[in-house]
Amino acid sequence: MNYKIAVVPGDGIGPEVTTQALRVLDRIGEKYNHHFEYTKVLAGGAAIDATGGCLPRETVEVCKASDAVMLGAVGGWKWDTLPGDERPERALLGLRKELGLFANLRPAILFDELSQACPLKPEITAGGLDIVVVRELTGGIYFGEKGVKDTDLGPAAYDVEQYAEEEVRRIAIVAFDMAMKRNKKVTSVDKANVLESSRLWRRVVAEVAKDYPDVELNNLYVDNAAMQMILNPKQFDVIVTSNIFGDILSDEASQITGSIGMLPSASLAKGNFGMYEPVHGSAPDIAGQDKANPMATILSAAMMLRYTFGLSDEANDIEAAVKKVLADGYRTPDLMANGGKQMGTQEAGDRILAA
Ligand code: NAI
Ligand code: MG
Repeated sequence: MNYKIAVVPGDGIGPEVTTQALRVLDRIGEKYNHHFEYTKVLAGGAAIDATGGCLPRETVEVCKASDAVMLGAVGGWKWDTLPGDERPERALLGLRKELGLFANLRPAILFDELSQACPLKPEITAGGLDIVVVRELTGGIYFGEKGVKDTDLGPAAYDVEQYAEEEVRRIAIVAFDMAMKRNKKVTSVDKANVLESSRLWRRVVAEVAKDYPDVELNNLYVDNAAMQMILNPKQFDVIVTSNIFGDILSDEASQITGSIGMLPSASLAKGNFGMYEPVHGSAPDIAGQDKANPMATILSAAMMLRYTFGLSDEANDIEAAVKKVLADGYRTPDLMANGGKQMGTQEAGDRILAA
């Protein structure tokens, strides 16, 4: 089959890591007789330099006309002095909004091969970990009413946390659907003991759960969830939560995986459309030096195959190849803390292709 992918390499190591991911996709295409058609477009600093704005209209149009989007990373020192609303990172918020990407999936997988790099105790991580945080991405306090006002205590500022039932329902459905493909367990995280918006969240999640009698639902307060992530992460499989809680918990969960260079992510819209990108940024400190770990982006490509295109065998192949390279002892510099055979970005791509 033919699949149209918009590719946004972006800045810094973005182009280096996306290049390797596209090589892997091409290899999968050869093996399974799929054709992946790429259209490269600009966003972030690269777009500012070329067009004056971080998210050209053409980029949005090409993304909308594609089946999925693959993004490297945006931003860098060169643009750090620009005012906030002109910075390259604004392109991400723009794309999320324009493409209706309301569900952010962040798997935190600890590969057995990297268990030494995990800060948790070995008895906690034995056998590896595999958690996915499903974060609501377009609602909540980041998008609610905000402003400044005068109060009895002087100048003040506020941000409103607000969720519509429909926003909670659609993210809960994503989480329960995912649980059905995994271990049939969902933990919903909120702060229903103090927040009205969290009480609505909990009620709607429970309603959705009725349609999934095979899935076990647990509710946790966010403060407890943060603690449990360190104490007993094995209890989690799919975690579903709001925008702000998910932002924080997914970063916390990411640290059990050893390196930010290993973390893929997906942002989904209605109808399986998605944008796939590594969790890390543009890493200007190592850009252009063949040091970047391309695995996060390559694993993001695997997520694209699984979640947008429904190609699980192909996705499994990619994940198995990444594991094989790690099991053979090869490491990009970010994973070298506990030794190993060092490889660069390009060589990592070569080895994954060979595997
Ligand atoms: P960063 O993730 O780019 O880098 C943090 C540290 O991790 C650096 O030491 C970097 O060398 C290392 N690192 C990141 N990815 C790596 C990889 N694949 N392999 C090996 N090492 C890796 O975060 P930082 O430094 O806070 O931000 C740099 C720029 O990226 C900023 O302009 C920031 O705004 C932007 N950014 C963009 C994101 C995106 O496009 N989604 C996300 C986060 C940051
Ligand atoms: Mg964050």
